[in-house]
Amino acid sequence: MFSVIKLSSENLSERYNPNLFIYFYETFPKGFWVCEINHKIVGFLVGVKLNNDIAKILMLSVSKLYQKRGIGGHLLSSFLREIILENIKKIELEVRKKNYNGIKFYEKFGFEIVDSIEKFYENEDDAYIMRLVL
Ligand SMILES: CC(C)(COP(=O)(O)OP(=O)(O)OC[C@H]1O[C@@H](n2cnc3c(N)ncnc32)[C@H](O)[C@@H]1OP(=O)(O)O)[C@@H](O)C(=O)NCCC(=O)NCCS
Repeated sequence: MFSVIKLSSENLSERYNPNLFIYFYETFPKGFWVCEINHKIVGFLVGVKLNNDIAKILMLSVSKLYQKRGIGGHLLSSFLREIILENIKKIELEVRKKNYNGIKFYEKFGFEIVDSIEKFYENEDDAYIMRLVL
């Protein structure tokens, strides 16, 4: 868990209370995925089930040195597999409007921008809401 928290603080702009990771893991363990290479965690995804129809991806991060090697896609596909088994129909997430790489990544997997939220982040950056309908 410590490695996931460390990677989150290195790679994601938003700061999260470390207890949140434990809370999410305990609430919906099927939404918690890590990628480990040589005993080192190099990527993770945290998703939750909002209700019987909708799941949400809260965090996805791959260590810089390991990006563009398919790890993010692998984490997302693993999560999607679990979500399909749960019979959930929609997955939503927020992504910074200026995170072009993140948006491209999610578009590659079929997510579409459906709305936006002004000043969504702590630093007042705007967010897009992206959605994948399964
Ligand atoms: C977004 C992120 C998770 C992608 O992880 P990754 O392991 O690098 O992604 P993959 O190698 O699986 O890429 C899959 C596809 O996404 C797209 N993609 C990924 N990184 C991209 C980039 N930097 N620029 C453009 N497209 C990109 C490509 O279409 C890629 O397919 P291709 O390799 O066949 O071209 C990673 O860049 C990251 O951790 N970024 C910082 C945190 C973040 O932005 N998280 C998401 C928003 S919360």
